[in-house]
Amino acid sequence: MSEQPALDQPPADVETDECLSSYDYLYSPTLLNGRVAFITGGGSGIGFRIAEVFMRHGCDTIIVSRNLQRVAEAAKKLEAATGRRCLPLAGDVRQPESLTAAVEEALRTFSRVDILVNNAAGNFLCPASSLSFNAFKTVLDIDTVGTFNASKILFERFFRDHGGVIVNITATLAYRGQVLQVHAGSAKAAIDAMTKHLAVEWGPSKVRVNSLAPGPISGTEGMRRLGGPAAEAMGLSTIIPLQRMGNKTEIAHGALFLASPLASYVTGTTLVMDGGSWLTSPNLLSASLDVWSSQMKK
Ligand code: HXC
Ligand code: NAP
Repeated sequence: MSEQPALDQPPADVETDECLSSYDYLYSPTLLNGRVAFITGGGSGIGFRIAEVFMRHGCDTIIVSRNLQRVAEAAKKLEAATGRRCLPLAGDVRQPESLTAAVEEALRTFSRVDILVNNAAGNFLCPASSLSFNAFKTVLDIDTVGTFNASKILFERFFRDHGGVIVNITATLAYRGQVLQVHAGSAKAAIDAMTKHLAVEWGPSKVRVNSLAPGPISGTEGMRRLGGPAAEAMGLSTIIPLQRMGNKTEIAHGALFLASPLASYVTGTTLVMDGGSWLTSPNLLSASLDVWSSQMKK
């Protein structure tokens, strides 16, 4: 019998916001040929890798975030690595006008948008009692309201008449009430609810809506902010059933599955990609408070 890699072996990834130096296709390279994806927060981290993997499968992309320079630099790298088009646009998902302008520019450029990935988010560690009213609201505005804004605008401008797919990047934080995360956990839980509501309401218009909930993912701002290096030092990986953090390419492969015809009968659900993490990870208040107070001192 020939030796095969383990079936939980992660694909290659790089920790930084650079494209992969090599890529082994697991799916058909033409899976998204002729498609166009609008990816919020696509200039960094998980969103950047989703853009790259979609483009490697034939898709053109629009990447949108507040910082035009960031998405413009990302777009150059993505186009050079994949040979597909990437349109970088400035937009704040909290502001419907700026998103509407971005969607209109995307439609002028590509004449279609097939896929929306709601990936933009904001997060930090903070105990509920120290969280200002505005801090809580800010995270809900970016994550939850931003997801609704982009979904509604794309539905009205294109999906209602042509069908489409929405992939909402959420998290498992609310499943067991993660400490110091009431803002992000509440925001992501609301998005998971929105996924079901919109899947039911927009299914007849041939719009599929799903969530993808990553666990701890290496090489991301999210993990850095949640004390990733400290958690690693405390042996986080040994607590995760699959004994390691996930990587951005793995999450991009999940998004590719949900966005593509492979998931043609999948809607209204959440794909958890966390190595089993939420089932076993301890919810350590004092250790989390230590990470938070060390971040406060910086
Ligand atoms: C407590 C904080 C804070 C912090 C900001 N605030 N940072 N409160 N701890 N570390 C408060 C501010 O004091 C202010 O409240 C309010 O939040 C809004 O802050 P602004 O800086 O004005 O907001 P804004 O410029 O809109 O920036 C949003 C942001 C910022 C979320 C605060 O960090 C950001 O832009 N983040 C984007 C990148 C990011 O977060 N990436 C990680 C996503 S990962 P007051 O009351 O003073 O006005 C992720 C992981 C999920 O989501 C799960 C992982 C397992
Ligand atoms: P990241 O690199 O910080 O990505 C967040 C992106 O959102 C940034 O590119 C940011 O760009 C953009 N953004 C933030 N606020 C915005 C706004 N108001 N309007 C438009 N764009 C905005 O973080 P990440 O770790 O890769 O996280 C990506 C997604 O995965 C998030 O939804 C996060 O919640 C989720 N997630 C991550 C992990 C993890 O381990 N990292 C785990 C679970 C879930 P600008 O600053 O330029 O606007």
